[in-house]
Order: sequence, then structure tokens, then C-alpha cells
Amino acid sequence: MTRHPTLRTALLASAATLLLTTAAFAGEVEVLHWWTSGGEAKAAAALKSTMQAKGHTWKDFAVAGGGGDAAMTVLKSRVVSGNAPAAAQIKGPSLQEWAAEGVLANIDGVAQAGGWDSLLPKVVSDVMKYKGHYIAVPVNVHRVNWLWTNPEALKKAGAKVPTNWDEFFVAAEALKKAGLVPVAHGGQNWQDFTTFESVALGVGGAEFYRKALVQRDPATLGSATMERVLATFKRVKDYTDKNAAGRDWNLATAMVIRGEAGMQLMGDWAKGEFLAAGKVPGKDFVCAAAPGTANAFTFNIDSFAMFKVKGDDKVKAQNDLAAAIMSTEFQELFNLNKGSIPARLGMKMDKFDDCAKLSSKDFVDTAKSGGLVPSIAHGMAVPSAVEGAMKDVVSQFWNDAKMSPKDAMTRLVSAAKAK
Ligand code: GAL
Repeated sequence: MTRHPTLRTALLASAATLLLTTAAFAGEVEVLHWWTSGGEAKAAAALKSTMQAKGHTWKDFAVAGGGGDAAMTVLKSRVVSGNAPAAAQIKGPSLQEWAAEGVLANIDGVAQAGGWDSLLPKVVSDVMKYKGHYIAVPVNVHRVNWLWTNPEALKKAGAKVPTNWDEFFVAAEALKKAGLVPVAHGGQNWQDFTTFESVALGVGGAEFYRKALVQRDPATLGSATMERVLATFKRVKDYTDKNAAGRDWNLATAMVIRGEAGMQLMGDWAKGEFLAAGKVPGKDFVCAAAPGTANAFTFNIDSFAMFKVKGDDKVKAQNDLAAAIMSTEFQELFNLNKGSIPARLGMKMDKFDDCAKLSSKDFVDTAKSGGLVPSIAHGMAVPSAVEGAMKDVVSQFWNDAKMSPKDAMTRLVSAAKAK
């Protein structure tokens, strides 16, 4: 499964229709996103109110489905039919793929006026540019390698927050004995890969992660370390419940919130769910780096790509949206709800909780130490076709009791070459 496998062909075929954008009234900005869970929706509302305060009309284009696969499918068909939204949540290398089709707008004017080059870490601004020109604007930095735990559940089981994978399985076993679901998990391939990449980082370290999953070096993908990673990953499955298949990530988080489950491996959008449920970090739930990954940081940057729009009013609304996203007010309000940290540098963190403060510190520290790595599960590292192929292998391995780590490694090596 790839995000938009036939994008180029489809777009070329419909180049003529691209010109026929539908007419709409002044100052309207249509924004495609997939933020529909409790915490996500609160964060999206911050964007909507920011735009409405500027007098623009917000046209919500929400496509449910964590991780955004459904949203990307819908986006593709909208662009192909010549009816692109003004802005869409697109991330990482996919931004380059869309820009290469010539459908994205150059927003250098807004970026220069706002001094974005000096307000964004280079690792972020590089992704927002195509051939040196801004085509997208970042809203946040999510950390993916987190473990969320319910302290009551751990207490009941006599377990402690694990700091490595051996301790993880000790805690999982104790939770199981206490009659709880040890690990809350859901059923989409991006959820499987979110767990997989945290295991890879924890078992193999940042250098291994980069070589195996980002550079996709065949020898590293086929190494003994990868075999250990896969075996450890598969062991996690024994501690998930039977109903995980098809479950959305936020429903898995809800199991931890309610104390039915003890732990969840998930990015910090999960914190948005805890907060939206009125839970207090450090008291009702605990955030910790995924086992063995305290000195590393898998980043996932949400951003909005701007599509070419026609009409001065629409262009104005789009530029205002881009500028508003980079404002300190928006970056604070949005990220307080989303669970992430601001993408913009030099922000005051006093209103943020300890999880966000730790994330912010670790983002800076790991950028220096070499522990900062892009998330594959969340579209930060590899072309979308490769990402889709790798996710498929990892999920097949997760779901097939008979597939050995060695089989999975062979398949990963060929998936890594997907075109
Ligand atoms: C990620 C996205 C996050 C979060 C998550 C679950 O890919 O970057 O913002 O929403 O999916 O939907």
C-alpha cells in the first residue's frame, strides 16, 4: 500500500482540469486534516479559531483515520479532479513528491516577512522547502518514541515503568497476572510500525535505526541486530488483547486512561487524549521514553502544504493561514492541546507540562548527540512507496504467527527498494 502510487500519472492526465478550480467566496480557506480524535480535534479547533479571528471563513475538510492514510487518498482524488483545498496536512518527503507535481504554492513571501529561516531548526525548515522555496509550514514536533503508562494499573500489578526491553516484559507479565491488558494496541499498519520503530531504536540504538530504516542498508536490514529487533517486537504482541485488530489508536489510549490496560507505545498525540479526558500528567498517567530510547528522539513534524489557489481573497486567506501557524500564540495554543511541542524556536515553555518540557530538552540534546532520527511510521524518512511497502511487511510479520524474523528480514530488504 502506498500513499499515492499513481499520483504522477493521474495528475498528468488531469492537468487540464487542474485549472478549473471551483469558485468560492472571499477569504475562505479550506483545510484538509485528519485530526478527529478528542485531543486532535481540540488542537484543530485552535487553528480554526485563529483563522476566524482574522475574519476568514474556515472550511473544515477532516478525513478521519489516525496516521492520515485515508486523508491522503481523499486528497489525491481532490487534486486529480482539479479541486485542491487551500491547505492540506502533508508531511516529510511526501511534501517533495507533491511539490514535484507543480501543484503547491510558493510561500516565500510570507516566510521572508516572518523570518522563518531564523525561527525554525534547519532539520525542520529543510523539509518545508522544495528546491529552496517554502511550500509548507510546520505546526509542531511530535516525539514518537514514548511509553504511556497508568500508574494505578502498574501499582495494582506491582510493576514499575520499564526503562529497557527486559524490564518492559517483566512489567507486561506482572500486568497480565493482575488481569489487565498489558499493552494497549490497535489495528492499523502505522500503529504496528510505531511500535516497531521504538523497538528498533531501543534494541539497536540510533545509529542502527538510521542505517537500517532510514538509509535502508541491506546488510543492516539483514543483521543479527535486526533479527533481535523483530523477535522483541513480536514478543510485544503476546501482551496485547485479542480485540486489537481494527482498533483506532485513541481507543487504545482510552484503555490506558480507564486503567484497563497498563501501557501504550505511541507518539505524544496520545497525551492530547489524556489531557482532553481531564487527566493530569505525572499523576493520572506517566510519560516515559520508550524502553531503551531515553537518549534518542524519533521526530514527526506535522505541517500544512499550501496548494495553488486562484483569486486574491483566497491567496490572502492562505497567506494569513501560513503566517498564523507560525505565530507564537498559535504554536502555544495548538501544541498545548496536541501533545506536541512548538516547531518554532525560542518559545516559552512555562505553560507546558513536564512531558513537553522533556521532549523539548531531548529534541535539542539529541540533535547534538546524533540521537535525533526521523519517524518512518509517520512519513518523515522515506519515499511514500517505500514506507508503504515496509509497513506492509512489518504488519504481516506482526499478524502471521508462522513468519520468522529471517523471512521478515528478506522481505524488508526488498520492500526497502520499492519504487
Ligand atoms: C500522525 C500525526 C499526528 C497524529 C497521529 C494520529 O501521523 O502526525 O498529528 O494525529 O498521526 O492521528
